[in-house]
Amino acid sequence: MACALSDDDVLELLCASGVVPVVVADDLDLMRPLGDALKAGGLPVAEVTFRSAAAVEALRRLALDRDLLVGAGTVVRPEQVDLARNAGARFVVMPGFSSRVVGRCRELGMPVIPGVCTATEVIAALDRGISLLKFFPAQASGGPAMVRALHAPFPEVRFIPTGGVSAANAADYLTLPSVAAVGGSWMVAPTLVRDGDFAAVSKLAAQAVAIVAEAHA
Ligand code: 3PG
Repeated sequence: MACALSDDDVLELLCASGVVPVVVADDLDLMRPLGDALKAGGLPVAEVTFRSAAAVEALRRLALDRDLLVGAGTVVRPEQVDLARNAGARFVVMPGFSSRVVGRCRELGMPVIPGVCTATEVIAALDRGISLLKFFPAQASGGPAMVRALHAPFPEVRFIPTGGVSAANAADYLTLPSVAAVGGSWMVAPTLVRDGDFAAVSKLAAQAVAIVAEAHA
């Protein structure tokens, strides 16, 4: 799916999904069934967080499936960009803003979505020509009200609120004009994955897709 896409296409595809599942990888053998479960639920996207020893290999296994759009999350150091790219990541997501990480992404031609939760960080990203930003941690940083407040001075910015987003509040974000998509782990919760409950993953993914469709109707 993603092999012939430009950087902008990758980000547009990510936004078009409306929801970015945030995967905390643990058991490598569960990655392929996890990817299949997301696809079965109509959500062929995954952000694999670089927070566990298994993350790089987990990303590699998921990215072997070219029908999945797989990226790296929680990227905080430039060398992780190289690891992510070598493992097959198509995009990089950061929890905050780092000029060094953005610089390495630029050098490697890797689409990057920095994290922001203040106006100062938004300006730092805009200075680097980046206007698609993760709003993190979304709920703890003021939720939809904060997204609305940031939209006023930065109408050109599109946000991907992540952190504390769930099926219960996703629509509160998705109905805002400045929100391109939301991110969250609720449909790929570590407990579900560990238990091999891929039917639940598919069901929650399908529910997330339905929430996006309704919010954009
Ligand atoms: C992330 O890394 O983006 C967040 O930890 C995901 O937040 P959530 O687990 O609250 O969805």
